Amino acid sequence: MSRYSRIAGTGGYLPETVRTNYDIAKMVDTTNEWILERTGIFSRHIAAAHETASSMAEIASLQAIAESGRNAEDIDLIVLATSSPDRVFPSTACLLQQRLNIRNCASFDVQAACSGFIFALSVADQYIRAGNAKRVLVVGSEINSRLVDWTDRTTCILFGDGAGAVLLEVSDEPGVMSTHISSDGRYRDLLYLPSAPREKSCCGVGERYIKMQGNDVFKIAVNTLGKIVDETLAANHLEKSDIDWLVPHQANIRIITATAKKLKMPMDRVVCTIETQGNTSSASVPLAFNQAVRDGRIQRGQTVLMEAFGGGFAWGSALVRY
Ligand code: ACO
Repeated sequence: MSRYSRIAGTGGYLPETVRTNYDIAKMVDTTNEWILERTGIFSRHIAAAHETASSMAEIASLQAIAESGRNAEDIDLIVLATSSPDRVFPSTACLLQQRLNIRNCASFDVQAACSGFIFALSVADQYIRAGNAKRVLVVGSEINSRLVDWTDRTTCILFGDGAGAVLLEVSDEPGVMSTHISSDGRYRDLLYLPSAPREKSCCGVGERYIKMQGNDVFKIAVNTLGKIVDETLAANHLEKSDIDWLVPHQANIRIITATAKKLKMPMDRVVCTIETQGNTSSASVPLAFNQAVRDGRIQRGQTVLMEAFGGGFAWGSALVRY
């Protein structure tokens, strides 16, 4: 009998504090209209001082575990995607494992910038298919507000904080139909974070924040995501019309619209959270997925295409029968 993975539960967490474009317009030379028109973002959530990637991941994970009807001790692997870890080591996955009080379970982080969750899902799916795990907690958690320079209007408008999680479990039917991940380090200088977040930077002034050539990233993201959509459909012998929902990484509404157009999908079949969440990096796909599951849009049995693109460049997709 074939062995697959399926999503048994989902969870999400957004910090309480909301920062709108009007708030940002008081900090840098920008306007609500510029941000909304160029990005589709109106507001984003900002973590409180006591919150960390692992504390937010804990809340999202507990929801996903509860939703699945399982217990934390049923989990045999945690794969957590983040670019804003609590510490360089131990991994944030390890800190989450301690928070969830799970013993006898392996846990590690995956770092693929905004595509981190898709990479983590791909790893988790392979573990389950290979018979090396039965239940894997897959999480994306980010405190981007600590990685952006709040005096740089070209980046600070884009990012937000949050965490999303899924519990993946073994199944005799898919579930996760296929995952496709890729990266190209030649683009390392178009989007990067020079130094790991820390209380005192070892780098020069301004060297500890996200750097981005937004316009170049934008063009390559649109082209690459178009190609990965085709690749994913071809690998599964599916037509565009077979996809019920697109759950894209939330970087820019114009990138999302271009991918939806490529898929010939009306925007009411695309899960968009960007307006109120901004770009939460590796948390954006699981947060959007969780939201659409909880509000009843995504139903069991439907086919969902998740995709992401980010620093590396690293990009990927996952086709899931929920
Ligand atoms: N408010 C007002 N004006 C601004 C702002 C702002 N916040 N930011 C930039 N501008 C100005 C620029 O200075 C420039 O002015 P100039 O023409 O006088 O030089 C003008 O607006 C146009 O700037 P562009 O950078 O060309 O604007 P663009 O339309 O490309 O929008 C944006 C910028 C929103 C960043 C867009 O390029 C984008 O979304 N890029 C992709 C981001 C992305 O996908 N990132 C990947 C994921 S992130 C990750 O992996 C961590």
